[in-house]
Amino acid sequence: MEKNTYVFGIETSCDETAAAIVKNGTEIVANVVSSQIESHKRFGGVVPEIASRHHVEQIIAVLNETLEQAGLTFKAMDAIAVTKGPGLVGALLIGVNAAKAIAFAHNLPLIGVHHIAGHIYANRLVKEMAFPLLSLVVSGGHTELVYMKEHGSFEVIGETRDDAAGEAYDKVARTLNLPYPGGPHIDRLAAQGEDTYKLPRVRLEEGSYDFSFSGLKSAVINTVHNAEQRGEEIVPENLAASFQASVVDVLTEKTIRAAKEYGVKQVLLSGGVAANKGLRTSLENAFADFKSIELVIPPLFLCTDNAAMIAAAGTILFEQGKRDGMDMNGHPGLDIEAF
Ligand code: KG4
Ligand code: ZN
Repeated sequence: MEKNTYVFGIETSCDETAAAIVKNGTEIVANVVSSQIESHKRFGGVVPEIASRHHVEQIIAVLNETLEQAGLTFKAMDAIAVTKGPGLVGALLIGVNAAKAIAFAHNLPLIGVHHIAGHIYANRLVKEMAFPLLSLVVSGGHTELVYMKEHGSFEVIGETRDDAAGEAYDKVARTLNLPYPGGPHIDRLAAQGEDTYKLPRVRLEEGSYDFSFSGLKSAVINTVHNAEQRGEEIVPENLAASFQASVVDVLTEKTIRAAKEYGVKQVLLSGGVAANKGLRTSLENAFADFKSIELVIPPLFLCTDNAAMIAAAGTILFEQGKRDGMDMNGHPGLDIEAF
């Protein structure tokens, strides 16, 4: 019988302090996420200094709870994987240094993981990957179409030229006086409204897989301001539905087109905005006609930031022999094609 591989993952790139243990890259043994959202809410977004302080306060408890949940010690681990970028540098450093300390104390291989690679590999905790594949990565900081011909190989074929999809959701939510993070609130309102406001679909040049959401965000803000000036009431449910329809239409259309052009076997949805019900339904409907392409959508707890996805991606890097040294640093702008 082959020996099992246990990888301990740590994620602190933004506002969740998270740790997890994953067996053989596919099975969650323990998964702990401590969210700081409540502390950032009153500022309407993540405050980097506050994020770092929370990570420092939470990390030891999160690490211990993860081992406790699994009923394992670090002795049973084969490697320590940690998000080394992109993200807030002060936040990344807490996870990176915790990982280094564990690796040093227990003589374990240390593996730095790209946060977006982690989001993509969250899918492997649901379904074995089949290559070539395409992942639509939609989060608070990223909107990308990533082509993978094999494990550990990432080619960005399209990305946002301005705001990320999640960022646009959060800004539009703020305009509608909804709490941070606004994505889930817009999603909920959208389900109660109709696409009555005529908002643009930004498709850019013919054939481009890039995205742009800042014009759409401005269109929503202008709609609200114009209504205020005219003394008219806006219907938040309808505005949310119209905004969501525009985002979802463009994301779905480009994903389908890229999946066909690149002849992929699978399409994986990844990142926090993958929790969006409108987007999930739209992709499910669009791919229902393409029997040769399998659509994989992770459950909600694997869409938002967590460390199981980092351990899953870390397992592949571990198996490929990739290692980081004790000089590993946090990289706020880490490139997925080169990490
Ligand atoms: O991946 P994630 O947890 O953190 C980053 O790496 O950015 O994504 C967070 C983003 C936020 O912008 C949040 O508003 C958005 O995901 N989000 C959603 C939904 N749930 C979370 N956006 C739209 N609809 C949702 N249901
Ligand atoms: Zn993320």
